[in-house]
Amino acid sequence: MAGKVLIRKLSRRSEFEKLVEIQRVVWKHPDLDLTPVHQFCISSFMGGLVLGAFVDGELAGFVYSFPAIFQGRFCHHSHLLAVLPQYQGYGLGKRLKWAQRREVLKLGLDLITWTYDPMQSRNANLNLHTLGAFCRHYLADFYGETPALRLGPGIPTDRLLLEWPITSVRVENRLRGRKHDPLNPEEWPRVLQGFTDAEGNYLPGKPELRAREKILLAETLRDVRAFQSRPEIIASWQSNLRRVFAHYFKKGYAAVDFVFGEKCYYVLEKISRNFLKDRR
Ligand SMILES: CC(C)(COP(=O)(O)OP(=O)(O)OC[C@H]1O[C@@H](n2cnc3c(N)ncnc32)[C@H](O)[C@@H]1OP(=O)(O)O)[C@@H](O)C(=O)NCCC(=O)NCCS
Repeated sequence: MAGKVLIRKLSRRSEFEKLVEIQRVVWKHPDLDLTPVHQFCISSFMGGLVLGAFVDGELAGFVYSFPAIFQGRFCHHSHLLAVLPQYQGYGLGKRLKWAQRREVLKLGLDLITWTYDPMQSRNANLNLHTLGAFCRHYLADFYGETPALRLGPGIPTDRLLLEWPITSVRVENRLRGRKHDPLNPEEWPRVLQGFTDAEGNYLPGKPELRAREKILLAETLRDVRAFQSRPEIIASWQSNLRRVFAHYFKKGYAAVDFVFGEKCYYVLEKISRNFLKDRR
């Protein structure tokens, strides 16, 4: 993408009106499920952050977060991140998140949280691998039967709640582009793995819930959108992943990375107190 990129805070009503349009284009949600102008107005006035990414002066994407308390700790909760389709894949999403980190640090906070759909592998890759967020909380059917937020008819709106410890060495290393050792999926046990059935459907196998190794892999679909006409397959992957996450989170594991390849895997690691204390 050629063009000059600028990321800056948004605070004018005319700019917030454009955010409603961006949501409409990116998510195609009905009006009732769009975050409205008045929400952006009051939150940006009361400690929230709305950052816009401009390409040659055109608003191409934004990220929105607001002050929150998570388990007794003050943080920012990031609720919307969107880049218009024609600008996707050029690094704007990443730049918006790093800019959000910079601004939240200025507020004296060291944590940003957000949720995402665990079946969205590209987002998992962005959140866990590229940004270095991690997750140990599974929110089953969090938004209930909201049709716009479901992956298909009758599929619960499950979410993973991410923690992004923005002063940690882990996150600073990701910011500097220091890649951690690439993880070889062949080396670690798989607690969820797909197989192709007699009709050629790619289905999840039975979850393995007795593993004790430090690192475990849980497979997920590479591109959930390719299964839109088969909601029962999406639902089956979702419910099996839910079982795996719920079980291993309870045992002290967290989702700490994502392998995005021909096959995609969540990386679960038994985390130590040091992992949680990682801070500069
Ligand atoms: C998610 C979204 C904001 C990302 O913005 P973007 O500008 O397209 O993303 P970037 O080009 O900055 O890429 C950031 C990371 O996303 C992931 N990513 C992007 N495209 C990907 C692809 N085709 N395959 C796998 N991972 C991909 C990678 O982790 C990438 O980091 P890397 O370049 O270091 O590998 C954008 O795609 C979007 O608006 N999607 C729809 C709305 C949405 O899902 N929002 C919620 C996000 S949690």
